[in-house]
Amino acid sequence: MSKIYNWAILGCGKIATKFANDLKLLPNAKLYAASSRNLERAQNFANDFGFEVAYGSYEEMVADKNVDVVYIATPHSFHHKHTLLCLKNKKAVLCEKAFAMNVHEVEEMIACAKDNNTFLMEAFWTMFQPSFNQAMEILNSGELGKLKIVRSDFAFNAPVLEDKRLYNPKLGGGSLLDIGIYPVFAALSSLGVPDTIKSFAEFSSTGTEESINIIFQYQNGEMANLTSSFSSYSPTQTEYLCEKGYLVLNPRWYTPTDITIWKEGGELRTIESQHREGFGYQYEAKHVMECLDSELIESPKMSWEMSMKLMGILDRIRIDAGIFFPDHDQELFF
Ligand SMILES: NC(=O)c1ccc[n+]([C@@H]2O[C@H](COP(=O)([O-])OP(=O)(O)OC[C@H]3O[C@@H](n4cnc5c(N)ncnc54)[C@H](OP(=O)(O)O)[C@@H]3O)[C@@H](O)[C@H]2O)c1
Repeated sequence: MSKIYNWAILGCGKIATKFANDLKLLPNAKLYAASSRNLERAQNFANDFGFEVAYGSYEEMVADKNVDVVYIATPHSFHHKHTLLCLKNKKAVLCEKAFAMNVHEVEEMIACAKDNNTFLMEAFWTMFQPSFNQAMEILNSGELGKLKIVRSDFAFNAPVLEDKRLYNPKLGGGSLLDIGIYPVFAALSSLGVPDTIKSFAEFSSTGTEESINIIFQYQNGEMANLTSSFSSYSPTQTEYLCEKGYLVLNPRWYTPTDITIWKEGGELRTIESQHREGFGYQYEAKHVMECLDSELIESPKMSWEMSMKLMGILDRIRIDAGIFFPDHDQELFF
């Protein structure tokens, strides 16, 4: 029987509401603390979801001895700072994607987890979706032959609002770290780290990247074609093109979804998603508690190596496309 874990939320914004909703589905997760820069916001959030306590600062929350694990749901530009704050106070951390702004920040976060012997994982929820995992099993079984090309996209039309996260360079704005990270993950998780990257970006009036097209090439002939954008809509699906057929993770491919398969000489076949409850954030939260039950400080599934590779590729894409975050990239690029 698993221990009951006291969860805390750091940053009561949009994604935190969805995550808290799904946390309620897990019997061994106690919705314990909500923390915000603003006490009233924390209290409202706590009341909405049934958290026991509310804190008007993140610092007060991490000082609470009863908190076991913190879900960090602030904009990417704060992930490094807020992760270090939690780990130094010996709180296990599940931190939203993008894990940080660049690979140096990720390295420091991992070093801090080791120094404090405390659990740290990137909240890359797609890695834990049953449909994504089923697709990987089918591809790895060899049924469709060798995987040759990955095509993946994620786009929606988001109005330019300068003070909002998506277009604010100080908050890590731009489609790449927000949604382009998913197509990059689709290629990384199936084909590995690319040998060559070419990327082409368009920029918004605030100077942040608005749309990006990325091509990966691998020495043994595989390729990936990846797109993200805040200026148009896309199906938001991932296609795995193989020698004997193809597999499609249907829209919205990074969430619980149906799978379509076509094999040489056969008919199109659909595997329906078995997911019934919640948005799909419960799978990653459940995994975190399984890791804590086993006294792990690193997830065997969403490993530190995976997060380092993902961020390393995002850095390479940004260098190629000329996307810089001056507040964070000094060490990396200048
Ligand atoms: N996994 C997913 O499906 C998914 C989906 C959406 C977003 N995300 C990720 O989750 C993170 C948060 O996204 P979101 O859309 O929830 O963001 P958001 O609503 O714009 O902001 C999240 C919260 O961050 C806190 N915050 C702390 N300092 C801030 C500052 N200087 N400016 C703005 N907010 C600040 C605020 O909470 P308080 O005021 O309460 O302190 C704010 O409500 C991002 O890294 C994003 O990539 C993941």
